[in-house]
Amino acid sequence: AGPPAGRPGVVVVFHDITELRRLERVRKDFVTNVSHELRTPLTSVKGFVETLLDGAMNDPVTCRRFLEIINQQAERLVALVNDLLDLSRVESPDIPLRRQAINLNSLAQEVGLTLTPRAESQGLRLELDLEPNLPPVWGDEELLRRLLLNLVDNAIKYTPAGGRVTIRTRAERSGGLTLAVADTGVGIPKRDLPRIFERFYRVDKARSRQLGGTGLGLAIVRHIVERHGATIDVQSEVGAGSTFTVHFPAGLLDPAAAAMATPAVPATLPASPSTEAATGPVPGAARAGTPPAVAQD
Ligand SMILES: Nc1ncnc2c1ncn2[C@@H]1O[C@H](COP(=O)(O)OP(=O)(O)O)[C@@H](O)[C@H]1O
Ligand SMILES: [Mg+2]
Repeated sequence: AGPPAGRPGVVVVFHDITELRRLERVRKDFVTNVSHELRTPLTSVKGFVETLLDGAMNDPVTCRRFLEIINQQAERLVALVNDLLDLSRVESPDIPLRRQAINLNSLAQEVGLTLTPRAESQGLRLELDLEPNLPPVWGDEELLRRLLLNLVDNAIKYTPAGGRVTIRTRAERSGGLTLAVADTGVGIPKRDLPRIFERFYRVDKARSRQLGGTGLGLAIVRHIVERHGATIDVQSEVGAGSTFTVHFPAGLLDPAAAAMATPAVPATLPASPSTEAATGPVPGAARAGTPPAVAQD
């Protein structure tokens, strides 16, 4: 209804700035966290180099010990930068998934083979429990490998010697598939469960750092899961272990449906040499799940 006759109309526009404020705070927190995570190892490297130059290098034993610490801190920096690059890649909707038929059992075997030496060196058994004749999922092989590596890496890190890590695949009655990583490790307190997929969130910062963690592994996992149109859940009991389960819905076994489920590729993106492009665009796929453009003022 317009303004009552004879009175000037007044238009009041409310902008929802609470959401903008929230996003800005998330961005600032992220920059603060990254800076802090970078500064800590850098400060340490600088301190040890200065002490070496001040004369400590003349004692071979001290020199070696300090160089080992410097090397460790440099490795931490490399891990952090690699995870940041991975994260920005999986977060960016402009980079399309390279989807193809992926056999999760082969992926599990490959990751199992890669990480068995590390598991064994920590006194753990790494086991595979694979459903025979598993149908393939339509996914990005490199990203699914990263997902599984991150989950198994955590399971190994947070399980004390004598424990067991299991990679499991299952076909669901619903027609979907699950890929799970179970461990008999330290577990995650209930109050932390809702936050572990946040960037830099760790239950125990000191322990994570000491084990070479960046706090970004599960944030990367979450984005890979979301971009595939899959879901992930965690069951955990402190002292007994954790199970991370990725659910691939039935639709993801079918290329066309998988493309529909993914808000991955903007409509304007040029054809890429990816499998996704090679199978031809699915009508409406590009826009599915993408929110309508918001007018700027
Ligand atoms: N399998 C697990 N068992 C126990 N705690 C876990 C497990 N996986 C993840 N967490 C907890 O979630 C936090 C976030 O995981 P992640 O993002 O991979 O970072 P991190 O670099 O510390 O491994 C970890 O610091 C740890 O507290
Ligand atoms: Mg991790």
